[in-house]
Amino acid sequence: PIPVYLDCDTGIDDTVALAYLLASPAVEVVGIGTVSGNTTAAQAARNTLDLLHLAGHDGIPVALGAHDHLDHPYGGGAAWVHGENGIGDVEVPHSPAEVDTRSAAELLIDLSHRYAGRLHVLTIGPMTNIAHALEQDPTLPSRVAEVTAMGGAALAPGNISPASEANVHNDPQAAAALIEADWDVTLVPLDVTLEHTLSEEQRGMLLADDRPFVRAVGEILDHYFDFYVTTYGRRTCALHDPLAAVIAAGGVSPARAPRVPVVVDTSWGPGRGQTIADLRGQRVAARDHEGVRTRVVLEVDAPIGAHLVETILA
Ligand code: BDR
Ligand code: CA
Repeated sequence: PIPVYLDCDTGIDDTVALAYLLASPAVEVVGIGTVSGNTTAAQAARNTLDLLHLAGHDGIPVALGAHDHLDHPYGGGAAWVHGENGIGDVEVPHSPAEVDTRSAAELLIDLSHRYAGRLHVLTIGPMTNIAHALEQDPTLPSRVAEVTAMGGAALAPGNISPASEANVHNDPQAAAALIEADWDVTLVPLDVTLEHTLSEEQRGMLLADDRPFVRAVGEILDHYFDFYVTTYGRRTCALHDPLAAVIAAGGVSPARAPRVPVVVDTSWGPGRGQTIADLRGQRVAARDHEGVRTRVVLEVDAPIGAHLVETILA
């Protein structure tokens, strides 16, 4: 299996992504770092430890990452989307496990040595920890096989502002650092994540399982389904982080993902956090720009919701 370092702001869809990664035989989660985003980095770490405990995966190190972002302090989270505790206000039994003694950036650097050339980095929150790791060790990219990041909006409107997606908007400088580093990046933006959803019937399949962890995932999704009524006109949810997890695990090959230059707007203007992808001339057929190592996923034509549920229930 591919060794994966997961960086997250757990988070309801982060929880679904975690459930998928733990169940997928294609990957082994070798470490998790948390960052402020949907909730504080500390609360995200607590949620992650508790979820891992419920899932019987206490052995995976969870490291506390950045509370504040590179150019501004933590902005207060997204309780209206993810609940006050980040996981839909569901009470998950407390894990006796504690966070790792290392910071998230230190854990990532350590894992890049241990799994040199093989480590896959998957970010599903603001990219602050990755920026810190790149700053602490500029040789990091040479030991990482690939980076998959849920974030940005290439042609679609944003979700946190008219122009920008939440993970990038929460730390545009960090997203820019991740994209500019010398490694292969797969960016999974709103353009494609909003196209993939989970149905009430699929949530019901999780709720009907006899494993407490799988049931908890179904319960946690309830809050998220309420939030998405305004977007989709029915109880469902977007599969932002889970789609990035599926792509990282090789569970699907994107139908269209050109390698194109991406610039992040780091200004404080109305475009803050916008991911400006050079998609000129891409309408007919995907065409890679020479020397560019960032591919932007624009199309995935597989039933992701079904694949997720099937994998989690297996
Ligand atoms: C992203 O922002 C967070 O709210 C979600 O967990 C996801 O990572 C979507 O914009
Ligand atoms: Ca997230």
